[in-house]
Amino acid sequence: MKKISVNELQIGDKVVKLDRNWLDTGFLTHKFYVKDKSVIEKLISNDVEYVYVERDEREEAVVEVFNGRPDDFIEHRKEIIKDNYINLDDISSAKALYSESVKIVHNILGDIRSGKMFNEQAVKSVASNIAEITLKNKGVMSSMAKLKYHDDYTFLHSMNVSIFASSLAAHLGMSPKEVERIAQAGLLHDAGKMLVPTGVLNKPGKLTDDEFKVMKNHVILGYDYLVKQGLPKDMLNLALQHHERYDGSGYPQGLKDEQISVEGKIGAVVDIYDAITSNRCYHKGMEPPAALKLMFKWTDSHINKKVFEFFVMNVGIYPVGSLVLLDTNELAVVGKMNTLRPTEPMVLTFMDKAGRNRPIQMVDLSKNVLHKKKILGPVNPENINIPDEIYAFIDGMNELK
Ligand SMILES: [Fe+2]
Repeated sequence: MKKISVNELQIGDKVVKLDRNWLDTGFLTHKFYVKDKSVIEKLISNDVEYVYVERDEREEAVVEVFNGRPDDFIEHRKEIIKDNYINLDDISSAKALYSESVKIVHNILGDIRSGKMFNEQAVKSVASNIAEITLKNKGVMSSMAKLKYHDDYTFLHSMNVSIFASSLAAHLGMSPKEVERIAQAGLLHDAGKMLVPTGVLNKPGKLTDDEFKVMKNHVILGYDYLVKQGLPKDMLNLALQHHERYDGSGYPQGLKDEQISVEGKIGAVVDIYDAITSNRCYHKGMEPPAALKLMFKWTDSHINKKVFEFFVMNVGIYPVGSLVLLDTNELAVVGKMNTLRPTEPMVLTFMDKAGRNRPIQMVDLSKNVLHKKKILGPVNPENINIPDEIYAFIDGMNELK
């Protein structure tokens, strides 16, 4: 608990005590959140000078970033893109780590299914590898998650949630220790699915109402299991709250945004994104731009908008002129934004996968063609020789008419 002046209050703060008896004020409870400016104004009009707040360090990191002015926000976005660069040398080690880790996750979750304790050492080692490479080179593991070349959904989903969640945590300013814990929690967030009958878990097609109830119970089953295994609270939060929704319509507790922990908010965003973009045996996953567009509609009803905005930057909005790697291993420069489909801009390819310069080609990534190319992530342009003509092309493409 920290004593601060009313003028120092920030949106999102949790006030736990006032400098006077709260019964003498116009506040209905003595503990409340500062949801907007009107709360601060009300405190001032009630002559309150000091309040006591409970600030969680992780929450503080998030609030600090979000409170900036719009200009700062754009600057910050540019910074994020800069440290989101994929280092080309790290691509092959990330690919190897990804496929190796999926096998280990398979074994970890398999142990849970057969009633054993989970292999804590294995979870820690996969998570620390993910966190290490994420902190060093923020975009590279997320670009692996975007490839989605494996087919076993639950194992892959656990890996991807771990990757996206730790990368988002790093962007939100969490410490390396916290990023690693989020990576571990992500691997285990659906542990309860291993305790749901396989007939329901792997049923192709729509579940009946009763089956859906059984399926929803994976959250409590997983939580109870992980509590028994002695998992600490911040890691349990992700498992317990990843199906909670901003407006309280989620499960199992029906918590509202202000009651959901940062881990829970991160969990909800990355869990939904990976679920709707993944291919399942009965339906094809959505393409990232369509998924992001749909999720945008769910902000401040299902998911926290600010956490989502950071996630969008994390999975890809690339400014004009940025160097990107395509899933064909070609290098390209973003030529023109596509405002409706921000992850599918117009790009100019100039280098093939062997690092040879090729004639410059303009590719519209939003066009539905047979071999549609996708951006894996931004690349650091420092050591890459980008032909000068590309910039002349870009100027032409963006000329005001
Ligand atoms: Fe889940």
